[in-house]
Order: sequence, then structure tokens, then C-alpha cells
Amino acid sequence: MYPVIEWKNDKVYMLDQRLLPEKEKIIIHHDYRDVARSIKDMVIRGAPAIGVAAAMGVALAVVSGEASDEKEFGKIINTFAQTRPTAINLFWALDKMKGIYHRYSNDPVALKMNIIEEALKIDRDDVSTNRKIGHNGEVLIKSGHTVLTYCNAGALATAGYGTALGVIRSAVENKKQISVIAAETRPYLQGARLTVWELQQDGIPVKLVTDNSVGYLMSKGIINEVIVGADRIVRNGDTANKIGTYTIAVLAKYHQIPFYVAAPISTIDFNLDSGSDIPIEERGKNEIIHFRDQVIARSYTEVIHPAFDITPHNLITAIITEEKILFPDYSKQIQKLQQ
Ligand code: MRU
Repeated sequence: MYPVIEWKNDKVYMLDQRLLPEKEKIIIHHDYRDVARSIKDMVIRGAPAIGVAAAMGVALAVVSGEASDEKEFGKIINTFAQTRPTAINLFWALDKMKGIYHRYSNDPVALKMNIIEEALKIDRDDVSTNRKIGHNGEVLIKSGHTVLTYCNAGALATAGYGTALGVIRSAVENKKQISVIAAETRPYLQGARLTVWELQQDGIPVKLVTDNSVGYLMSKGIINEVIVGADRIVRNGDTANKIGTYTIAVLAKYHQIPFYVAAPISTIDFNLDSGSDIPIEERGKNEIIHFRDQVIARSYTEVIHPAFDITPHNLITAIITEEKILFPDYSKQIQKLQQ
């Protein structure tokens, strides 16, 4: 499969997701600041993938001799912490890298070796975690059903295989007849550009729909299940995911369609009680008033552009993790996952 992100010869290689599906271009990063910029500018995106990117970025900084002391290392961590605020996987990966730094900071040779190894481990583990999520979750997907997914929670959003798309892939590997509906996901079009591209490569039947057709399609019985990924899940099960997810969850509840969230345990924020505590990224207005070079609205147009929303736990039928499937009531089960 295409390399979403790779560590090669002490450099970080990334597929530029902004250009898909038209162009498959790889960007080679020699400087950790460029890795941070690529996360911010969405060369790479998706909660687990940005965690991997941040880990590799920190490794790159250390290997390049930029982490000369604790203060410099702190600056590097800070640079990554300021890229995208909502997906907890970024901060989870940075915590892991901090742990390695503090363990080996007195031994530069061991530090370099172990910091690279930790980044590679985060990358490797993510793929096996996603396969477990897929394996656990596919029992929820019935043969003959049409599944709606939103944004891109696939191989492109992770180190490989995907979370929500991992469940779909696993169902297909188990010979279930599944077809997928991907909603476009304005404004960045992760659904149209990335999810459709990924599923087409795997030969999984997929139809593209506009975001605003979901209610109508549900009312017609065309959608049987919904499965999405997550950027942050908190202790009561409230879930942050791509803006528009909440709207789909409300529609699913109204039409009595199961709404599933698939995510690794690294997406759970055990420190927050409720979704209202999750920081929601606001992105620049250019993403709304332009599509690439095409002007959509006049430059002085004011916009509101949150990149994520919160789906309350009572709209979520189940949360699929690598450990097990959680059903409501989530609080106690989430607490158990922390141990
Ligand atoms: O802004 P993005 O593209 O990073 O948003 C991605 C999502 O919202 C995904 O659904 C989420 O990160 C889960 S990816 C497995």
C-alpha cells in the first residue's frame, strides 16, 4: 500500500494528502519544523497519523542535534503541541517521546537510537491496533448492508489499514457483501478525495454523496449503519470528530440507524469528563471561501470554521477499540481501559 508516512535514512517521508486523488507526491522532510508545518497544513492528517508524524518529527529533531538540552527539547515538543489542538493522539505520542528523552538524556547515542525506535514502534503498533479494531468491530456490520462513513478514518489517517475503514475492510475480508457511502466532508473533502480513493484502490464498492444528502438517504432506508473515526473521546464517551459528524449522529438517532465510533485507546482522553472540555480547532477562512484556486465567496466574507464537533455519548451506539467493543453506559468501561 502507499506510504502515508515513513522514516527513511533519518528523514521523514510523507504522502502529500492535499493533492490526492490527482497526484501522488511524496514530500521529504529534513527539518522537524517542516514536519510540524506539514501537520498544521494537513499534508498529513487524521488523529493517529498526526501522532506518528509528531513522533517522527521529534526523532528527526533529536537526530539532527537540535535537542541539545532540556530547554531546546521543550521547544521542539511545544512546536508540535501547537500544530493541531483537537486530536489527542498528537499529545499522547509527544508524551511517549518525552519519556524516552528523559530516560536517555544523559547518553546521546542511546537517546538517538531509542527515540527513533520509539517513533517506529508508534508507527508499527498503530497498524496492528487498527487490525484489532477491524477484527473486533466487523461483527457489527451485517452482510448486504450499506455503511455510511464520514471524513477519512482510513489508511491515510493512520499508519495503515484505518479505524472506521479498518472495520469495513475487515468485514469485506470476512466475505461480507458491504457497500459504502462516503459523504464529501466539506471543506477539505476528506470523504470525496481520500476515502473514495482508498476504497476504490481496494475494490470495495463505494458511492460518493454530498454531506447534505445524508438525511434524505437515511429516510429512504439507503443507509443501514454509520461508522466514523474519532479525534478525542472523553471519559463519558462524548466524541470529537470531523465537523458534521454530530449532524449525522443526530440524523442516525432520528432514523434509528446504529452509529458506531472506531478508535484506538490512544484516542481516549482519560483526563477530561465531558465533550465540552475538548479544545476545538478553528481553521483559517481561506479553506471555506476558496476551493484551491477557485473563489467561492468574496474575500471580506466573515466565516465560522470549526474543524471538529462533539457527538454526545447518548447518540453513539458503540465505541470499537482494539481491546473490545464498548456499549453504553461508557463511563465505567472507559475507566477500565485506563488500567
Ligand atoms: O482534519 P482531519 O482530516 O485531521 O480530521 C480527521 C478526522 O476527523 C478523522 O475522522 C479522525 O482523525 C479519525 S482518523 C482515524
